[in-house]
Amino acid sequence: ANQMPKVKYIAQDGTEHPVDVEIGSSVMQGALDNMIDGIEAECGGFCSCATCHCYVDETWFDKLSEASDAEKEMLEFTFDPRPNSRLSCQIIVTDELDGLIVRLPEEQS
Ligand code: FES
Repeated sequence: ANQMPKVKYIAQDGTEHPVDVEIGSSVMQGALDNMIDGIEAECGGFCSCATCHCYVDETWFDKLSEASDAEKEMLEFTFDPRPNSRLSCQIIVTDELDGLIVRLPEEQS
């Protein structure tokens, strides 16, 4: 059987949460399924709440497909947006993303 890709979520206090996330699922869903604090995901993954904001580790950022215009607009409404900001509901997990590292923001907007 194929192994599920691992995604590592790093909380504000530095706590690391490495979890297995199913291929085709989102980084947002992986956080919710594993009860990782810091991702709220109020809209349920429809790119319309921006409460699933995360910072993608610099070594991984360029490996993701580019954010849509809609996502980029939503990112402007997040608390403390940065160049490596993404909405975690828009990051779909693939084999290639095995080992992905994301950091959780201080607060969701
Ligand atoms: Fe609402 Fe990602 S869950 S924008």
